[in-house]
Amino acid sequence: MARGRQLYHSLGCANCHEPNLFGQRLGPPLERIGTVAETRRPGLSAEEYIRQSILDPGAYVVPGYQDSMPRDLGRDLSPTDLGALVAYLLSLK
Ligand code: HEC
Repeated sequence: MARGRQLYHSLGCANCHEPNLFGQRLGPPLERIGTVAETRRPGLSAEEYIRQSILDPGAYVVPGYQDSMPRDLGRDLSPTDLGALVAYLLSLK
């Protein structure tokens, strides 16, 4: 969990998913993504949805947002690190 949280910051997720100096965000808030994720796509569990959001952000674009999340964020992650990142996000209920 600590590793996932660390990755969230080191990969720059927070740059888009937390408010900037002007109080704006480029991406949707993730504070409750563990709960929101299971409501997004029928047939995908929360974990599958979060995993897909990182590896293939264009597969589903959250209404009201641009399809502007970088494609390559998950590419260089080891399976262990990807798992840690997903577990961290899942814990945000
Ligand atoms: C350049 C800005 C940017 C960065 C960096 C970024 N995201 Fe995103 N993210 C977005 C935008 C914009 C969306 C909404 C559009 C979409 O669904 O693709 C999004 C959507 C998501 C969603 C789906 C949210 C929902 O409510 O369904 C998840 C999960 C997510 N991002 C996780 C991450 C993680 C984890 C990282 C770091 C590895 C990250 N993002 C980095 C911009 C970004």
